[in-house]
Amino acid sequence: MPKFVITGGNKLAGEIAVKGAKNAALKIIPAALLSQETITITNLPQIEDIGKSFDLLADLGAKIELNGDTAIINPENINKFELQSKLADKFRTSVMFVGPLLARFGEVKFPHPGGCVIGAGSRPIDLFLEGFRAFGATVDEESGKYYHVKAKQLHAADFFFPLVSVTVTESLMMTACLIPGRTILRNCAMEPEIEALADYLNSQGAKISGAGTPKMIIEGVEKIGAGTFQVIPDRIETGSFAIMAAATKSEMKITACNPEHILSLLSVFDKIGVDYEKGTDWLLIKKPSNPEFNFKAYDIRTHEYPGFPTDLQSPYVVMMTQAQGTSLIQEVIYDRRLVWIDMLSQMGAKIIMCDPHRIVVSGPSKLYGKKLISPDIRAGIALVIAALIAEGTTEIDNIYQIDRGYEKLDERLQKLGADIRRIE
Ligand code: EPU
Repeated sequence: MPKFVITGGNKLAGEIAVKGAKNAALKIIPAALLSQETITITNLPQIEDIGKSFDLLADLGAKIELNGDTAIINPENINKFELQSKLADKFRTSVMFVGPLLARFGEVKFPHPGGCVIGAGSRPIDLFLEGFRAFGATVDEESGKYYHVKAKQLHAADFFFPLVSVTVTESLMMTACLIPGRTILRNCAMEPEIEALADYLNSQGAKISGAGTPKMIIEGVEKIGAGTFQVIPDRIETGSFAIMAAATKSEMKITACNPEHILSLLSVFDKIGVDYEKGTDWLLIKKPSNPEFNFKAYDIRTHEYPGFPTDLQSPYVVMMTQAQGTSLIQEVIYDRRLVWIDMLSQMGAKIIMCDPHRIVVSGPSKLYGKKLISPDIRAGIALVIAALIAEGTTEIDNIYQIDRGYEKLDERLQKLGADIRRIE
């Protein structure tokens, strides 16, 4: 299995361009099912789960032409409503195909989706099913492994999300586009990726209002056209690189990004003394003028957008190991997203786990190179940042879990001066 071998201590310098958002791209691909027309997607990140989504779409009958970061999808001949287990149980967002297929065919068969093990058990899909039932569908479950959702006639619904969920909001929003009548979704997630998807669908004939707010109203339409969707910049890459620069006390310009999407992180930077400048599509993290400078420790609690993203919690924990003082980190979105900190402790970090949702980090502490295994995408990038700070050499195994979120990370970091190698 490929590994990263990283020798810490180098200061990074230069520019790094952010790729298209994984979590936007993974939704626009199934959204292609809502139309019979050809859609062009640009600025696609070249990462594993995108390839898996295309495999799934192709298996349903779509024609896909891929050229670098552009894809042209012709969904006209899609004639199947069953997601093959061997393709769909490999990644979480296979579940995003269900709503559009249900809207198109009135019936879908699919397995429980795979993905990072960061939530309760194998990450539930109960809320998706609750939403489909609200639209009038019935759900047959085979012991939580395989599902058959169908409806004679779907109807509009007034649905309140019992908890805020990004993918369920997107899924029900897409499904409702083709259901006659007025659907109201309440307590919606408000992530920029949802707004970008809604803006695109509206430009192609959908009638969605309120995306990016807690209440969405969707008037069903008969037909959705298709045009070009440019994937928005990945805000989690932007934030990860910003933290990488600050934690390694480097000067880095992050380009092709939207700093407005990471204001929760930048407001923390303001409080702890990280110096930066920003424009509409760039962010410059400045090197401290005094090499002895330490930013201050600061408590965070993860929150739905626009709060502090759970996907930046792990890089932030690494940063706090280098801060002056004690910080309390509370992870409230997922049950198992602090498990990885054990590896950071092995590197020399001083961390006390209070309970599965809270840790206390004391800094600054010296980190040392170790042999580690990346458990999931975001813990993986955190380990890379820790390795860049650490004395000595770190080996990170299972980097498949990093490649899933960050395109060609090693090559991009080498250009900034990082000593990182991929060993096949
Ligand atoms: N949940 C349920 N039942 C469901 C669905 C979700 O209980 O049917 C729970 C989850 O277990 C979690 C909470 O709801 O405790 C919120 O999760 P949410 O559904 O919002 O997460 P998601 O939509 O599955 C997306 C991103 C995640 C990101 C979260 C939170 C995508 C493809 N994934 O996941 O991204 O952490 O929102 O912002 O959009 C990542 O990129 O590494 C990643 C995990």
